[in-house]
Amino acid sequence: MSEKKYRVTFEPEGKSVYVLDGTTIYEATDEAGIIIKSECGGVGTCGNCKVIVIKGDYEQTGSERFLTDEEMKKGLLLACRTKIKSDMVIEIPLASRLFEQKILTEGLEKELKLSPNVRKIYLKVDEPTLEDPRADLDRIWDGLKKISCNPKIPVDILRRLPDKLRKGNFSATVVLNADEIVGIETGDKSDKNYGVAFDIGTTTVVGYLHDLNNGKQLSAAARTNPQTSYGDDVITRIDYTNTHKDGLDELHERIASCMNDIIVELANDSGIDKKFIYEITTTGNTTMNHLFLKLNPKYIALNPYVGVLRSNIETRARELDIHINRYGKIYSMPNIAGFVGGDTVAVILASEIHKSDKLKFAIDIGTNGELVMGNRERLVSCSTAAGPAFEGARITYGMRASDGAIEKFVINDSDIEINTIGNAKPIGLCGTGLIDAIAELRKRNIIIRQGKLLKRDELPSELPDFIHERIISHEKFGTSFILVPGRDSQTGEDILLTQKDIRETQLAKGAIYAGYQILKSILGIADDDITQVLLAGAFGNYIRREQAKWIGLLPDIPTEKIRFIGNAAGVGAKMVLLSKELREEACRISQNTEYIELAVRSDFQKVFTDSMFYPECMTCK
Ligand code: FES
Repeated sequence: MSEKKYRVTFEPEGKSVYVLDGTTIYEATDEAGIIIKSECGGVGTCGNCKVIVIKGDYEQTGSERFLTDEEMKKGLLLACRTKIKSDMVIEIPLASRLFEQKILTEGLEKELKLSPNVRKIYLKVDEPTLEDPRADLDRIWDGLKKISCNPKIPVDILRRLPDKLRKGNFSATVVLNADEIVGIETGDKSDKNYGVAFDIGTTTVVGYLHDLNNGKQLSAAARTNPQTSYGDDVITRIDYTNTHKDGLDELHERIASCMNDIIVELANDSGIDKKFIYEITTTGNTTMNHLFLKLNPKYIALNPYVGVLRSNIETRARELDIHINRYGKIYSMPNIAGFVGGDTVAVILASEIHKSDKLKFAIDIGTNGELVMGNRERLVSCSTAAGPAFEGARITYGMRASDGAIEKFVINDSDIEINTIGNAKPIGLCGTGLIDAIAELRKRNIIIRQGKLLKRDELPSELPDFIHERIISHEKFGTSFILVPGRDSQTGEDILLTQKDIRETQLAKGAIYAGYQILKSILGIADDDITQVLLAGAFGNYIRREQAKWIGLLPDIPTEKIRFIGNAAGVGAKMVLLSKELREEACRISQNTEYIELAVRSDFQKVFTDSMFYPECMTCK
């Protein structure tokens, strides 16, 4: 007997999918390609995946503890705790959606000497005669002026060689990847030679298509990493591969199909055929690299936090289910350690800290915060478990940097000014809005150094009434600050900054700041010795430096020393696509950068606790 299938329609987009009896709503959203918020990867412990059942039967357990009475009256349920038992219509509220965020595809643009690994050479060879009976491959090999008599070529390319040569009257384009022939094309196709560089982030994936003949970038495209629906951080995803039989295959399949979609978009945007893409370079944190390479990441999460490989690796694209030219290859950048990956190598390569005489400090604030400090003589790195608070996750009204997100929050003398992305009515707040809100409240001692949000009757008396009125005692969230009243928000609900959000931010910024302090102490330097702080990553590019100093996310050093370097990880991936010499340099960076495991340091706990305080900003104007 066949299993029952139900049609599930998601509103407001009206998208329908068919699912088996007993599938959870969470799984069905995934089928429909709708990404909803989840920290726990759908195991029912975060309370983020709230949906409203408009029609249909279901079976649910364990939603109650995450829902207020009012939410239950409105029919809200947790998607991951609710099984589908009939055809259904389900609304996914704005607050539960993970939007495509404003993704940074630009970074430091570098000038470099073009020397791609893939070259195309057009050859016109002599036709064979009785006087010149050299074999077809010998003709090609001689034409390439190769001295060795050991040509590397896949045997199925060889099988098609005779016909290809004759079809083109003995003219052909040879494609070389390093010293291996990876293609023979009829006639002159030497102008069609492309490669893609990928930055595989925990949250976002960005691809850049380049013409390998002149190095020019032809297009860039980005997507949310679809693995996000398995959990918003690397540990949850590693856990998924450990607890599900086909978990690793599933997560690999998700990232590969996302990259394939990006490749199609890049090719369409630039009007090229993807069969002329011969090479892909990738960078990402160590876990993302493992999941993409289909390597078991299990031991990265276990003491002593070791991955399967640290070095770079090259493999055929089709072995990893990536659809470019059939003989195309993938070069995956080397890592530094279990929690400092190829993306940090790429940041170092792009920012050239490893060549600098002066001391510099680079931070890539993503779902984790990766830190590097030093100069040409010594580089030290660490990873901090900052969590995704600055990406809007685990924040009560948090959201990613997309339309409707409060990205700027300023308290003026008589009112509050906000900006949202896309100038849309506010829905929630993204990382920059979160930093602004906390910094603005901290400056006025509404949040004290220890991180407590004062109640209305504890506020400094000189504060104006409009600020007093915004402090409330919420039934569920306790003391909270109304950032936007319900009458002005898109959802009709007040948008709050809660005490829990302030604590969550303290943990995140405290982890990053503690990493900074420990790297400084290892190098034996003070704040003043650092000549530049480089902020990498999508988030880094949008934060207001003074505000970040006010909350103690960045060191209290003159603002002009803090520089944005954009998506430096993406730039690093492009650099190794365009220059094989830089692959050697990336390899040296990976080997020479010291990794500091914060968790095993006896001073970490104390430094972390001290770093959680909100400071006074001495250098803010
Ligand atoms: Fe449903 Fe976390 S509780 S995704």
